[in-house]
Amino acid sequence: MPARRRTLIAGNWKMNGLRQAKAELRAVAAGMGGVGAELMLCPPFTLIAAFAADVAGTSLMIGGQDCHAAESGAHTGDVAAEMLKDAGAVAVILGHSERRADHREGDAVVKAKVKAAWRAGLLPVVCVGETLDERDAGEAAAVVTRQLRQSVPDGATADTLVVAYEPIWAIGTGRTPTTDDVAQIHGAIRHLLAERFGAEAEGIRILYGGSVKPDNAAALLATADVDGALVGGASLKAADFLAIARAAP
Ligand code: PGA
Repeated sequence: MPARRRTLIAGNWKMNGLRQAKAELRAVAAGMGGVGAELMLCPPFTLIAAFAADVAGTSLMIGGQDCHAAESGAHTGDVAAEMLKDAGAVAVILGHSERRADHREGDAVVKAKVKAAWRAGLLPVVCVGETLDERDAGEAAAVVTRQLRQSVPDGATADTLVVAYEPIWAIGTGRTPTTDDVAQIHGAIRHLLAERFGAEAEGIRILYGGSVKPDNAAALLATADVDGALVGGASLKAADFLAIARAAP
C-alpha cells in the first residue's frame, strides 16, 4: 500500500446503541494506543454529539450512517450533513446496502448525498456491493463499478472520498468472499477511480466490509488494494473492534 493510504477501520453500529454504550466507546479510545490504523465509529444519530464530545482530544473519529441531500427544510425525520458536522461528526457512511434496500436509495440519491457531505466538510464513505445472484451470474465487478460510477460525483480526491466494497451476501452472514475475489473487485474499483480521478486514485482508500471479524481480519486487510475495513457486528464490542484494528498490516 502506498504510504499515502493510511489504513482506516470504521465501525458501523447500525441501529444499535443506547447511552450506556459509551462504555464501549471509552474502551476503544482507551485501548487504541499502538494501533497504526485510523479508527472511526459511526453510532446512530442519537449518540453522535455525546460520542464526539467524549472522544475530543483523541484520534478516534466519529461518523454518521446517512444524511439528507438538502441543507435544511421540510424533511421530517431526516438529518442534514451540516447537522452531523455540527454534532461533531467528521465523516458519513452513504449508500449502505441497507439504506439502498430499506429506503429505496438509488445511485442518484447517493450521489446527491455525497455532494451534501462535501458541502458540509464531511468525508463520505460510499458503499457499493453486489447481491448473491449478481455474483453467481459473474456480474459482481460490473455491478460494483456501475454503482460507483453513478454514486460518486466528479471531482473526488484522496482526501474527499472513501469507498467501501460490501458484498450484500456477506453482510451479517458470517460468509466472506475469498481474498482473490476481494482483490479482483478492489482492483476493478481502483481502475475505475483512476479512469475518473487520475493520480488521485492511488490515494483513495477502498475498504472491505461484510462479516469482518478478529479471526479473518488479518487476511482480508493484507489483500491487495484493501485499505481498511467497514465493520458492522464486530464493531459493537470494543475488544473485537480493537482486535480487528490490530490485525491491520
Ligand atoms: P457486518 O456488517 O460486519 O455485520 O457484516 C458490515 C456492514 O454492513 O457495514
